Amino acid sequence: MKKELIELRVNGRAHELAIEPNALLLDVLRQQLQLTGSKRGCDDSSCGACTVLIDGVAMMSCTLLAASCEGQEVTTIEGVSEHGSLAAIQKAYGDWGGAQCGYCTPGFIMTVKSLLAENSNPSEADIRMALSSNLCRCTGYNQMYQAIGSAIKAEREGLAVAGSGGGKG
Ligand code: FES
Ligand code: FES
Repeated sequence: MKKELIELRVNGRAHELAIEPNALLLDVLRQQLQLTGSKRGCDDSSCGACTVLIDGVAMMSCTLLAASCEGQEVTTIEGVSEHGSLAAIQKAYGDWGGAQCGYCTPGFIMTVKSLLAENSNPSEADIRMALSSNLCRCTGYNQMYQAIGSAIKAEREGLAVAGSGGGKG
């Protein structure tokens, strides 16, 4: 199949790539950009292991054409850390034992990032609803929900502290 050139912005960097028109975003990320944090668990949008953000919205990259993402910002788990440090949600996963094999973890974290971008104070029901399309085979979910709850609390308190300083003017 004839390849086409596209420009894909991933984690803040632009990449010019030659891809087949039907190339899936997950394959392009993993095979051409060596961003292997996004996982393939099912290939049919039913496990969430491949979840990335497209302009901040969680989407499953195993069924998304890479070419359709031109002009949008793709964020993968590799783009989540902040200034070289783990993001609050990543740290909380470690603190609470939210991952066992870890295969599902990047997808869960990307879904949580998307949820928090639209709702900084989600209820437990909101969290469970948002994560209903992400599957985990190992943890039993409880430690994950504890980690997520703790990260949300930490981020909220961080925002409150930042807000109390009056901002930069
Ligand atoms: S690999 Fe994409 S949803 Fe399972
Ligand atoms: S930690 Fe193993 S699948 Fe979730």
